[in-house]
Amino acid sequence: MLIKHSKKSQLKESQLTSESIYKDRRNIIKSLGLAALTFPFAKPVSAALFDVFSEEKSNDVTFKRSPLNFTKNTNYQSLTPLTPENKVLQYNNFYEFGTGKGDPFQYSQQFKVDPWSLTIDGLVDKPITLNYEDLLKKFDIEERLYRMRCVEAWSMNIPWLGFTLATLLKQVGVKSDAKYVRFETVYDPEQMRGQSSKFIGGSINFPYVEGLTIEEAMNPLVLLSVGLYGKTLAPQNGAPIRLVVPWKYGFKSIKSIVKITLTDKQPRNTWQAIGPDEYGFYANVNPRVDHPRWSQKNERIIAEGNVFQQERKKTLMFNGYEEEVAHLYKDMDLLRHF
Ligand code: MTE
Repeated sequence: MLIKHSKKSQLKESQLTSESIYKDRRNIIKSLGLAALTFPFAKPVSAALFDVFSEEKSNDVTFKRSPLNFTKNTNYQSLTPLTPENKVLQYNNFYEFGTGKGDPFQYSQQFKVDPWSLTIDGLVDKPITLNYEDLLKKFDIEERLYRMRCVEAWSMNIPWLGFTLATLLKQVGVKSDAKYVRFETVYDPEQMRGQSSKFIGGSINFPYVEGLTIEEAMNPLVLLSVGLYGKTLAPQNGAPIRLVVPWKYGFKSIKSIVKITLTDKQPRNTWQAIGPDEYGFYANVNPRVDHPRWSQKNERIIAEGNVFQQERKKTLMFNGYEEEVAHLYKDMDLLRHF
Protein backbone atom coordinates (compact mmCIF):
# COMPACT_ATOMS: atom_id res chain seq x y z
CA MET A 1 0.00 0.00 0.00
CA LEU A 2 1.19 3.47 -0.80
CA ILE A 3 2.31 5.30 2.31
CA LYS A 4 2.18 8.99 1.61
CA HIS A 5 4.43 10.24 4.37
CA SER A 6 6.36 12.41 1.99
CA LYS A 7 3.33 14.51 1.24
CA LYS A 8 3.20 17.97 2.67
CA SER A 9 -0.07 17.07 4.33
CA GLN A 10 1.80 14.54 6.48
CA LEU A 11 4.72 16.69 7.51
CA LYS A 12 5.51 17.36 11.09
CA GLU A 13 4.41 20.74 12.33
CA SER A 14 7.48 21.73 14.24
CA GLN A 15 5.77 24.70 15.81
CA LEU A 16 3.79 22.41 18.11
CA THR A 17 3.33 23.35 21.23
CA SER A 18 3.95 23.19 24.86
CA GLU A 19 0.69 23.02 26.72
CA SER A 20 -0.41 26.17 28.44
CA ILE A 21 -2.95 25.72 31.13
CA TYR A 22 -4.61 28.82 32.45
CA LYS A 23 -8.14 28.70 33.65
CA ASP A 24 -8.24 31.68 35.96
CA ARG A 25 -10.66 34.41 35.20
CA ARG A 26 -8.05 37.16 35.03
CA ASN A 27 -6.44 35.55 32.02
CA ILE A 28 -9.77 34.92 30.40
CA ILE A 29 -10.78 38.52 30.83
CA LYS A 30 -7.40 39.65 29.52
CA SER A 31 -7.99 37.56 26.43
CA LEU A 32 -11.40 39.10 25.81
CA GLY A 33 -9.91 41.81 23.64
CA LEU A 34 -8.25 39.17 21.49
CA ALA A 35 -11.44 37.12 21.47
CA ALA A 36 -13.44 39.96 20.07
CA LEU A 37 -10.91 40.33 17.28
CA THR A 38 -10.34 36.71 16.42
CA PHE A 39 -13.68 35.10 17.04
CA PRO A 40 -16.39 37.18 15.41
CA PHE A 41 -17.58 34.49 13.02
CA ALA A 42 -21.15 35.54 13.44
CA LYS A 43 -21.49 39.29 13.24
CA PRO A 44 -22.84 39.97 16.74
CA VAL A 45 -19.82 40.50 18.96
CA SER A 46 -22.00 39.39 21.88
CA ALA A 47 -21.53 35.84 20.63
CA ALA A 48 -17.78 36.24 20.99
CA LEU A 49 -18.15 37.42 24.54
CA PHE A 50 -20.44 34.53 25.49
CA ASP A 51 -17.98 32.15 23.99
CA VAL A 52 -15.19 32.84 26.42
CA PHE A 53 -17.33 31.99 29.40
CA SER A 54 -19.35 29.22 27.87
CA GLU A 55 -16.17 27.20 27.56
CA GLU A 56 -16.22 26.81 31.30
CA LYS A 57 -19.67 25.23 31.43
CA SER A 58 -19.83 21.59 32.28
CA ASN A 59 -22.48 18.98 31.74
CA ASP A 60 -23.25 15.42 32.73
CA VAL A 61 -22.72 13.63 29.47
CA THR A 62 -25.82 11.60 28.87
CA PHE A 63 -25.47 10.86 25.16
CA LYS A 64 -24.09 7.36 24.67
CA ARG A 65 -21.53 6.88 21.89
CA SER A 66 -21.04 3.30 20.67
CA PRO A 67 -17.73 1.73 19.62
CA LEU A 68 -17.42 1.22 15.85
CA ASN A 69 -15.67 -1.45 13.79
CA PHE A 70 -13.14 0.18 11.48
CA THR A 71 -9.78 -0.17 9.81
CA LYS A 72 -7.05 2.44 10.12
CA ASN A 73 -6.17 3.97 6.78
CA THR A 74 -2.42 4.42 7.01
CA ASN A 75 -2.39 6.78 4.03
CA TYR A 76 -3.99 9.38 6.25
CA GLN A 77 -2.07 9.23 9.46
CA SER A 78 -0.65 12.27 11.15
CA LEU A 79 2.70 12.88 12.73
CA THR A 80 1.39 15.65 14.91
CA PRO A 81 -0.37 15.23 18.24
CA LEU A 82 -4.10 14.70 18.18
CA THR A 83 -6.33 17.31 19.74
CA PRO A 84 -7.45 16.15 23.20
CA GLU A 85 -10.80 14.39 22.84
CA ASN A 86 -12.45 16.58 25.45
CA LYS A 87 -11.70 19.68 23.35
CA VAL A 88 -13.12 18.08 20.21
CA LEU A 89 -16.24 17.25 22.23
CA GLN A 90 -16.63 20.57 24.03
CA TYR A 91 -15.24 23.32 21.81
CA ASN A 92 -17.64 23.34 18.91
CA ASN A 93 -19.44 25.35 16.30
CA PHE A 94 -22.99 24.13 15.80
CA TYR A 95 -25.25 27.17 15.66
CA GLU A 96 -28.37 25.00 15.76
CA PHE A 97 -27.58 24.64 19.48
CA GLY A 98 -26.28 28.18 20.08
CA THR A 99 -23.40 30.42 19.08
CA GLY A 100 -21.17 29.81 22.11
CA LYS A 101 -18.43 27.22 21.80
CA GLY A 102 -19.81 25.33 24.82
CA ASP A 103 -23.46 25.47 23.70
CA PRO A 104 -23.43 22.49 21.33
CA PHE A 105 -22.13 20.20 24.08
CA GLN A 106 -24.38 21.66 26.72
CA TYR A 107 -27.63 21.64 24.78
CA SER A 108 -27.39 18.58 22.54
CA GLN A 109 -27.06 15.62 24.85
CA GLN A 110 -30.72 14.59 24.47
CA PHE A 111 -30.64 14.94 20.67
CA LYS A 112 -32.18 11.88 18.97
CA VAL A 113 -30.12 10.35 16.19
CA ASP A 114 -32.09 7.10 15.82
CA PRO A 115 -34.37 6.93 13.87
CA TRP A 116 -32.58 8.97 11.17
CA SER A 117 -33.19 9.32 7.49
CA LEU A 118 -30.64 10.52 4.92
CA THR A 119 -31.96 10.93 1.38
CA ILE A 120 -29.74 11.15 -1.69
CA ASP A 121 -31.71 12.50 -4.62
CA GLY A 122 -31.68 14.95 -7.54
CA LEU A 123 -29.63 14.17 -10.64
CA VAL A 124 -28.85 10.56 -9.75
CA ASP A 125 -29.77 7.24 -11.36
CA LYS A 126 -31.00 5.56 -8.18
CA PRO A 127 -32.17 7.89 -5.39
CA ILE A 128 -31.95 6.21 -1.99
CA THR A 129 -32.83 6.81 1.62
CA LEU A 130 -30.54 5.44 4.31
CA ASN A 131 -31.67 4.80 7.87
CA TYR A 132 -29.57 5.00 11.03
CA GLU A 133 -28.36 1.41 10.79
CA ASP A 134 -27.43 1.81 7.11
CA LEU A 135 -25.19 4.75 7.99
CA LEU A 136 -23.16 2.60 10.38
CA LYS A 137 -23.33 -0.77 8.63
CA LYS A 138 -23.71 -0.35 4.87
CA PHE A 139 -20.21 0.97 4.17
CA ASP A 140 -16.74 -0.10 5.30
CA ILE A 141 -15.64 2.37 7.91
CA GLU A 142 -12.07 3.60 8.07
CA GLU A 143 -10.17 5.90 10.38
CA ARG A 144 -8.31 8.89 9.00
CA LEU A 145 -6.48 11.59 10.90
CA TYR A 146 -7.21 14.99 9.40
CA ARG A 147 -6.46 18.54 10.40
CA MET A 148 -9.45 20.87 10.66
CA ARG A 149 -8.93 24.61 10.18
CA CYS A 150 -11.83 26.84 11.21
CA VAL A 151 -12.33 30.15 9.42
CA GLU A 152 -12.02 31.73 12.89
CA ALA A 153 -8.28 30.89 12.79
CA TRP A 154 -8.11 27.91 15.15
CA SER A 155 -7.35 24.33 14.28
CA MET A 156 -7.65 20.77 15.50
CA ASN A 157 -6.28 17.38 14.51
CA ILE A 158 -9.01 14.74 14.66
CA PRO A 159 -9.27 10.95 14.12
CA TRP A 160 -12.44 10.69 12.02
CA LEU A 161 -14.31 7.48 11.24
CA GLY A 162 -16.27 7.27 8.04
CA PHE A 163 -16.37 6.44 4.36
CA THR A 164 -15.74 8.54 1.29
CA LEU A 165 -18.52 10.60 -0.22
CA ALA A 166 -17.38 9.23 -3.59
CA THR A 167 -18.32 5.69 -2.46
CA LEU A 168 -21.88 6.81 -1.80
CA LEU A 169 -22.14 8.87 -4.98
CA LYS A 170 -20.90 5.97 -7.10
CA GLN A 171 -23.56 3.78 -5.54
CA VAL A 172 -26.42 6.12 -6.50
CA GLY A 173 -24.94 6.90 -9.94
CA VAL A 174 -24.36 10.58 -10.71
CA LYS A 175 -26.03 11.80 -13.92
CA SER A 176 -23.79 13.61 -16.40
CA ASP A 177 -25.59 16.96 -16.00
CA ALA A 178 -24.97 17.08 -12.23
CA LYS A 179 -22.45 19.81 -11.47
CA TYR A 180 -22.82 20.31 -7.71
CA VAL A 181 -23.71 18.47 -4.53
CA ARG A 182 -25.98 20.24 -2.05
CA PHE A 183 -26.11 19.16 1.60
CA GLU A 184 -28.76 20.01 4.16
CA THR A 185 -28.79 19.66 7.95
CA VAL A 186 -31.84 18.39 9.81
CA TYR A 187 -34.48 21.01 10.65
CA ASP A 188 -35.93 20.24 14.07
CA PRO A 189 -36.53 23.37 16.16
CA GLU A 190 -37.97 21.31 19.01
CA GLN A 191 -34.63 19.63 19.52
CA MET A 192 -32.38 22.43 18.28
CA ARG A 193 -32.87 25.57 20.32
CA GLY A 194 -30.98 27.75 17.84
CA GLN A 195 -33.49 26.95 15.12
CA SER A 196 -36.37 28.38 17.11
CA SER A 197 -34.65 31.65 18.07
CA LYS A 198 -32.76 34.03 15.78
CA PHE A 199 -30.83 35.30 18.78
CA ILE A 200 -29.69 31.88 19.96
CA GLY A 201 -29.03 30.63 16.42
CA GLY A 202 -26.88 33.57 15.30
CA SER A 203 -29.46 34.91 12.81
CA ILE A 204 -29.02 31.95 10.49
CA ASN A 205 -31.91 30.97 8.24
CA PHE A 206 -32.06 27.27 8.96
CA PRO A 207 -31.73 24.59 7.70
CA TYR A 208 -27.95 24.94 7.35
CA VAL A 209 -26.89 24.29 3.75
CA GLU A 210 -23.54 23.55 2.15
CA GLY A 211 -22.27 22.62 -1.28
CA LEU A 212 -19.36 21.21 -3.26
CA THR A 213 -18.64 20.89 -6.97
CA ILE A 214 -18.85 17.33 -8.31
CA GLU A 215 -15.07 17.27 -8.79
CA GLU A 216 -14.54 18.30 -5.17
CA ALA A 217 -17.13 15.82 -3.93
CA MET A 218 -15.41 12.96 -5.77
CA ASN A 219 -12.00 13.80 -4.32
CA PRO A 220 -10.89 10.86 -2.16
CA LEU A 221 -10.19 13.17 0.79
CA VAL A 222 -13.87 13.98 1.32
CA LEU A 223 -15.41 11.89 4.08
CA LEU A 224 -18.88 11.27 5.34
CA SER A 225 -18.04 10.82 8.98
CA VAL A 226 -20.06 8.73 11.42
CA GLY A 227 -17.60 8.76 14.29
CA LEU A 228 -14.46 10.01 15.97
CA TYR A 229 -11.99 8.63 18.50
CA GLY A 230 -13.19 5.07 17.85
CA LYS A 231 -16.86 5.71 18.60
CA THR A 232 -19.98 7.06 16.93
CA LEU A 233 -20.25 10.84 16.68
CA ALA A 234 -21.56 12.90 19.55
CA PRO A 235 -24.49 15.18 18.70
CA GLN A 236 -22.34 18.29 19.12
CA ASN A 237 -20.00 16.99 16.38
CA GLY A 238 -22.83 16.33 13.93
CA ALA A 239 -24.25 12.90 14.76
CA PRO A 240 -25.23 10.68 13.17
CA ILE A 241 -23.48 11.76 9.95
CA ARG A 242 -21.52 14.82 8.83
CA LEU A 243 -19.22 15.92 6.07
CA VAL A 244 -15.44 16.36 6.51
CA VAL A 245 -13.57 18.37 3.85
CA PRO A 246 -10.11 18.91 5.34
CA TRP A 247 -8.72 21.43 2.81
CA LYS A 248 -11.62 23.85 3.31
CA TYR A 249 -12.59 26.01 6.26
CA GLY A 250 -14.53 24.05 8.85
CA PHE A 251 -17.88 25.62 8.02
CA LYS A 252 -18.02 23.54 4.82
CA SER A 253 -18.09 20.39 6.96
CA ILE A 254 -21.83 20.39 7.51
CA LYS A 255 -23.26 18.40 10.42
CA SER A 256 -26.26 16.10 11.00
CA ILE A 257 -27.09 15.73 7.31
CA VAL A 258 -30.55 14.60 6.18
CA LYS A 259 -30.37 15.40 2.49
CA ILE A 260 -27.76 15.21 -0.27
CA THR A 261 -28.98 16.50 -3.62
CA LEU A 262 -27.15 16.36 -6.94
CA THR A 263 -27.91 19.48 -8.92
CA ASP A 264 -26.82 21.60 -11.89
CA LYS A 265 -26.97 24.84 -9.87
CA GLN A 266 -24.40 26.09 -7.41
CA PRO A 267 -26.00 25.88 -3.94
CA ARG A 268 -26.01 29.03 -1.87
CA ASN A 269 -24.32 27.92 1.31
CA THR A 270 -25.42 29.26 4.67
CA TRP A 271 -22.43 31.47 5.49
CA GLN A 272 -22.30 32.89 1.99
CA ALA A 273 -25.96 33.85 2.35
CA ILE A 274 -25.22 35.59 5.65
CA GLY A 275 -22.09 37.44 4.54
CA PRO A 276 -21.23 37.16 0.84
CA ASP A 277 -18.34 39.61 1.23
CA GLU A 278 -16.80 37.46 3.96
CA TYR A 279 -17.64 33.85 3.11
CA GLY A 280 -17.59 32.34 -0.36
CA PHE A 281 -18.72 29.11 -1.92
CA TYR A 282 -15.25 27.57 -2.16
CA ALA A 283 -13.85 28.50 1.26
CA ASN A 284 -10.52 26.84 0.59
CA VAL A 285 -8.03 27.35 3.40
CA ASN A 286 -5.75 30.05 2.01
CA PRO A 287 -3.25 32.04 4.10
CA ARG A 288 -2.95 34.57 1.26
CA VAL A 289 -6.59 35.63 1.43
CA ASP A 290 -7.41 37.28 4.73
CA HIS A 291 -10.89 37.40 6.12
CA PRO A 292 -12.00 41.06 5.86
CA ARG A 293 -11.95 41.27 9.66
CA TRP A 294 -8.92 39.17 10.60
CA SER A 295 -5.78 37.53 9.25
CA GLN A 296 -5.77 33.97 7.93
CA LYS A 297 -1.97 33.70 7.98
CA ASN A 298 -1.79 31.64 11.12
CA GLU A 299 -3.94 29.69 13.51
CA ARG A 300 -4.33 28.77 17.18
CA ILE A 301 -3.73 25.08 17.76
CA ILE A 302 -6.41 23.90 20.15
CA ALA A 303 -4.76 21.87 22.92
CA GLU A 304 -5.25 21.48 26.66
CA GLY A 305 -5.85 24.70 28.56
CA ASN A 306 -7.40 28.04 27.74
CA VAL A 307 -8.22 28.11 24.05
CA PHE A 308 -7.19 31.75 23.73
CA GLN A 309 -3.74 31.16 25.21
CA GLN A 310 -2.58 28.54 22.73
CA GLU A 311 0.46 28.23 20.54
CA ARG A 312 0.01 29.46 16.97
CA LYS A 313 1.35 28.03 13.76
CA LYS A 314 1.46 29.15 10.16
CA THR A 315 -1.59 28.24 8.13
CA LEU A 316 -0.77 26.11 5.08
CA MET A 317 -2.30 26.48 1.62
CA PHE A 318 -5.29 24.14 1.36
CA ASN A 319 -4.58 23.31 5.00
CA GLY A 320 -1.56 21.28 3.88
CA TYR A 321 -3.51 19.14 1.38
CA GLU A 322 -2.17 21.02 -1.64
CA GLU A 323 -0.80 17.95 -3.43
CA GLU A 324 -4.16 16.25 -3.26
CA VAL A 325 -6.39 19.14 -4.32
CA ALA A 326 -4.53 22.02 -6.00
CA HIS A 327 -5.36 20.60 -9.44
CA LEU A 328 -9.05 21.25 -8.79
CA TYR A 329 -8.42 25.00 -8.87
CA LYS A 330 -5.60 25.35 -11.39
CA ASP A 331 -7.44 27.80 -13.66
CA MET A 332 -9.25 29.63 -10.90
CA ASP A 333 -8.51 33.06 -9.44
CA LEU A 334 -8.53 32.16 -5.75
CA LEU A 335 -8.67 35.82 -4.73
CA ARG A 336 -12.04 36.11 -6.43
CA HIS A 337 -13.33 32.61 -5.72
CA PHE A 338 -12.65 32.63 -1.99
N1 MTE B 1 -22.90 22.38 10.54
C1 MTE B 1 -24.06 22.87 10.95
N2 MTE B 1 -25.20 22.26 10.59
N3 MTE B 1 -24.16 23.99 11.73
C2 MTE B 1 -23.05 24.68 12.10
O1 MTE B 1 -23.17 25.70 12.81
N4 MTE B 1 -20.60 24.84 11.99
C3 MTE B 1 -19.46 24.59 11.10
C4 MTE B 1 -19.27 23.10 10.81
N5 MTE B 1 -20.54 22.47 10.52
C5 MTE B 1 -21.78 24.20 11.68
C6 MTE B 1 -21.74 23.00 10.91
C7 MTE B 1 -18.22 25.15 11.60
S1 MTE B 1 -18.11 26.83 11.57
C8 MTE B 1 -17.18 24.40 12.01
S2 MTE B 1 -15.68 25.09 12.39
C9 MTE B 1 -17.31 22.94 12.18
O2 MTE B 1 -18.64 22.48 11.91
C10 MTE B 1 -16.94 22.57 13.61
O3 MTE B 1 -17.00 21.18 13.80
P1 MTE B 1 -16.76 20.61 15.27
O4 MTE B 1 -17.60 21.39 16.21
O5 MTE B 1 -17.15 19.16 15.21
O6 MTE B 1 -15.30 20.78 15.55
